[in-house]
Amino acid sequence: MLMTVQDFETAARTRLDPVHADFIAGGAGDEITVRANEEAFRRLRLLPRVLRGNTERAWDITVLGSHARTPILLSPTAFHKLLHEDGELATARAAAAAGAIMIVSMASTVAVDDIADATRGAGEDGDPAPLWFQLYLQPDLEFTRALVRRATDAGCTALVVTVDSPVRGAHERDLRNGFLDLPDGLRCEHMVDPREGGRVRPIAMSPEISWDHIDWLRGITSLPILLKGALHPEDARLAVRHGVDGLLLSNHGGRQLDTVPATIELLPDIHAAVAGRIPIVLDGGVRRGTDVVKALALGASAVGIGRPVMWALAEGGEKGVRRLLELLREEFDHALALCGASGVQDLTPDLVRAPAWGPP
Ligand code: FNR
Repeated sequence: MLMTVQDFETAARTRLDPVHADFIAGGAGDEITVRANEEAFRRLRLLPRVLRGNTERAWDITVLGSHARTPILLSPTAFHKLLHEDGELATARAAAAAGAIMIVSMASTVAVDDIADATRGAGEDGDPAPLWFQLYLQPDLEFTRALVRRATDAGCTALVVTVDSPVRGAHERDLRNGFLDLPDGLRCEHMVDPREGGRVRPIAMSPEISWDHIDWLRGITSLPILLKGALHPEDARLAVRHGVDGLLLSNHGGRQLDTVPATIELLPDIHAAVAGRIPIVLDGGVRRGTDVVKALALGASAVGIGRPVMWALAEGGEKGVRRLLELLREEFDHALALCGASGVQDLTPDLVRAPAWGPP
């Protein structure tokens, strides 16, 4: 029976080509950060309140104008058609049914306009479910501009700019497996360049990207911009200064620089650095409802999940992702009740105990 995120991973592994399972599970280098993300959540302890008399609980959030019926959003992940024939369409329909924000990856195998069409009217009261678009800024600014326009025209309500990838992460599992590109018949739809007769461009991860590019992007779009992958408090402060609207505090699920800290460990420092001026979404290692409670209590406005969505998609397509989002919301609701909380607003830092420093 599929009762937990772990169950989805176990079930998906029986169906998936082991090379593709490695692509999902793997990370950079020794995968120290991959493990740290989950371990750090496990080490934190919750300290609940009692006798609060709360009979009703709410899970709604609004982040940068996007309303969602759950604080758990879908972080951007590549290549969904590798895992299920309906690819991102299945994922997006499930997200819409749950009222969850989905961040469409620039490396998706279905284009953002087709995803938007598939979910139109599927949100609460027929409102479109919130879609955000993730972008790696390309040194070819005209190409980037066209992509921003495409996401905007599709109805995306925020842009998530991934900034932790001046070069590609070294995924040793993929290198050993020889998994270096999508199989024939699949492609990154956003990278098809109409100016070049439909050539599929590789996604450039370029060390030349700088704050000047963020300023440029700020100038060409009125959509809210979130930076994904800034980890240093000084960069969080710089983001505010450059007019960035939000942070997605993320270490790319341990897939870029190995040995960076777990994101939940960084949250208090980043929260202090931005001092409430912009919202923080956190991803990396969220696997339980109690993880969601911990992140929100420590100052996140929402959390993202990456790998769990991919396992669920591989296991059961749209139905699988629906069930995953349902079970995580049930776990979150249960943890809220046991903390004596009636909603996100009751989750405060005093509910979380950091462990004494030492071996886990
Ligand atoms: C990712 N992630 C990612 N991030 C991004 O900005 N653009 C992308 O295209 C991808 N693609 C991608 C593929 C796969 C297979 C994984 C596992 C991850 C990172 C993702 O958005 C997120 O930061 C992490 O996955 C969060 O950690 P968990 O939930 O996987 O632990």
